[in-house]
Amino acid sequence: MVSPTMFYHQSSNRYYRVDASSMRRHQLDAAGEETLVVAKSIDVAVGSGNHAITYLHRTPQGRLLELPLSWYSQKQSWAMSPGYDRPNHEDFRREISDSCLFCHSGSPQPSPIGCNRCHGPVAQHLQSPKPGTILNPAKLDAQRQLDVCLQCHLQTTSAGIQDSVRQPGMNTWAFQPGMALSDYKMLFVRETEDEGRLEINSAGYRLLQSACFQKSEGRLQCTTCHDPHTAKVRVKSCVQCHAAAHAGDQRREGASCESCHMPKRRPVDAIHTSITDHKIAREPIITHATEEDHGPYDGKAIPFYIHADPLTLAAVNRSDDPSVYRQLTQRDPKNVPMLAMLGKVLLRRNEPVEAAKVLERAATLDPSCTDCLAHLAVANALRGDLRHSLEILRKAVAGNPDHVLARINLGIAYESLGDRAQADDAYSEAIRLQPDSTEAAERRRRLRQR
Ligand code: HEC
Ligand code: HEC
Ligand code: HEC
Ligand code: HEC
Ligand code: HEC
Ligand code: HEC
Repeated sequence: MVSPTMFYHQSSNRYYRVDASSMRRHQLDAAGEETLVVAKSIDVAVGSGNHAITYLHRTPQGRLLELPLSWYSQKQSWAMSPGYDRPNHEDFRREISDSCLFCHSGSPQPSPIGCNRCHGPVAQHLQSPKPGTILNPAKLDAQRQLDVCLQCHLQTTSAGIQDSVRQPGMNTWAFQPGMALSDYKMLFVRETEDEGRLEINSAGYRLLQSACFQKSEGRLQCTTCHDPHTAKVRVKSCVQCHAAAHAGDQRREGASCESCHMPKRRPVDAIHTSITDHKIAREPIITHATEEDHGPYDGKAIPFYIHADPLTLAAVNRSDDPSVYRQLTQRDPKNVPMLAMLGKVLLRRNEPVEAAKVLERAATLDPSCTDCLAHLAVANALRGDLRHSLEILRKAVAGNPDHVLARINLGIAYESLGDRAQADDAYSEAIRLQPDSTEAAERRRRLRQR
């Protein structure tokens, strides 16, 4: 990258400028002047560059934020990051969670994936480097061998429903090669899945649905076709099982089998690249997504590949019955996202006293959970303790200045306490961070009219 690149994203009407060390966004006001500027340094690169490289910013508080533009190898150009090609994208606000890093990094800090992710702990092997002191995935039974790859390559969807929930007591980093994936997490899909829907991380999900996989009874592994160390496709991987396929058909015999049975298609959550559809089929679907699909999904979610218990299934289907979440948090008392869900359901049912207790617990277990703090503040405000609510929100914003909901709630708290100037500042900052926030715009408009 030599000179800075300018990029205009039409559907969000935002201008971006990328140089070697930073990304910057602005919009133009009625007079044609730059407004709503945000700029962040580029600190970490994620992705092999095979399809795309996405960049992260590390905030002064140590959080990682995904940046809105990615570099696409097939097009040799910048475009919106996967999931960002829409009017109301997350811009500079998407926090990279531990679960992103579990798949995209070797450790909670961004780093390349190490041997241990497929071979388990390596310390003993380094002391005594001989066979038997390290796990060889090839010696695992078929299912667990496949699960070594599926720990990262099985994602049912990146949007619309919650794709997975970890088993009680499991933290993000608890999966070890040799374990059954089902002991680590449960997976969910849309009940009315569109058979043609293809997403960027879909190799495992699509392969598992193919007759070729289902009927080969464990003999078809990722490593049947891929060298696990180079990721390259092994030659003639199909004919080991399909020696007679298309025998005598000159057009097909000896041709590249994948070109017809595993077409490359454009995925619906990353339209600037194309990937191999692993749902091997006689006559595969060859449609291409032309725009990102962000339509809401209001159908049911059902389990996929792994059995799910009824309580978790109810939570994934966004039950509004607090007893569902109460039981789940009793079973798994340190599960912060589940505690946060319980807190929010209680708030919606106007039970701020219990909500405050639950959210307090969540925020104590994970002080970096801004969402917990933002809702804890609401619970305190509903109980009438505005001062305490304000205090919590100031702490939340100090720890996470890019969090729009915390900013808006801070504005509301100042407004309730009669501090108009501070309230205006909080709403304005929320609008700068998220120019499409109608909530912040509407609150500021009403405040200024008063
Ligand atoms: C279950 C594991 C998993 C999780 C969780 C996950 N990813 Fe991915 N992601 C992958 C894999 C594997 C690919 C590559 C898919 C391929 O090339 O077929 C990918 C692809 C991508 C890409 C496309 C760029 C590239 O490398 O080609 C981006 C950007 C991305 N992921 C970002 C994220 C972010 C941000 C999160 C968290 C919100 C996340 N991912 C969560 C496994 C995961
Ligand atoms: C710790 C997570 C993780 C595990 C385990 C894992 N992968 Fe991947 N793999 C990824 C990610 C993420 C990518 C996307 C490229 C990138 O970002 O580096 C990827 C890319 C690939 C690619 C595409 C090559 C490329 O350069 O884009 C292949 C093929 C692949 N993996 C096969 C496998 C196989 C086979 C296994 C099991 C033996 C496996 N992976 C295990 C995370 C993982
Ligand atoms: C993405 C998963 C993955 C990663 C990461 C990985 N391996 Fe492997 N490795 C495998 C699998 C699977 C096998 C089993 C052989 C096969 O299926 O081809 C294997 C086999 C091996 C073998 C035995 C070779 C043989 O022919 O049987 C050695 C040695 C090895 N790996 C070393 C390493 C080292 C050293 C690293 C880190 C630099 C590493 N591996 C990283 C998946 C991985
Ligand atoms: C029957 C053979 C076969 C099996 C089994 C298979 N793959 Fe692939 N895979 C391919 C082919 C062919 C490509 C395209 C390679 C290319 O274009 O260079 C590919 C490409 C990929 C890529 C690169 C990104 C893309 O989609 O183009 C990833 C990631 C990947 N495979 C992961 C996996 C994982 C994980 C598994 C096991 C769940 C798996 N594959 C099983 C044949 C296979
Ligand atoms: C480990 C063995 C194995 C490998 C490797 C393998 N297949 Fe298959 N495949 C099977 C089995 C078993 C079936 C089911 C056969 C049947 O129904 O008669 C099958 C079925 C199929 C079908 C029919 C699918 C349908 O929907 O009816 C196609 C097409 C196919 N395979 C293509 C391929 C291609 C292309 C490759 C390489 C990229 C490949 N297979 C690699 C075992 C394998
Ligand atoms: C030019 C496209 C093309 C190529 C190349 C091709 N196939 Fe096919 N294949 C098809 C079509 C189309 C069908 C559907 C049935 C038919 O027309 O024979 C099919 C059917 C199949 C079936 C299912 C047969 C059945 O009885 O249901 C298998 C297995 C298969 N192909 C494997 C392969 C393998 C292995 C290769 C590589 C050696 C390959 N194909 C190359 C297009 C292709």
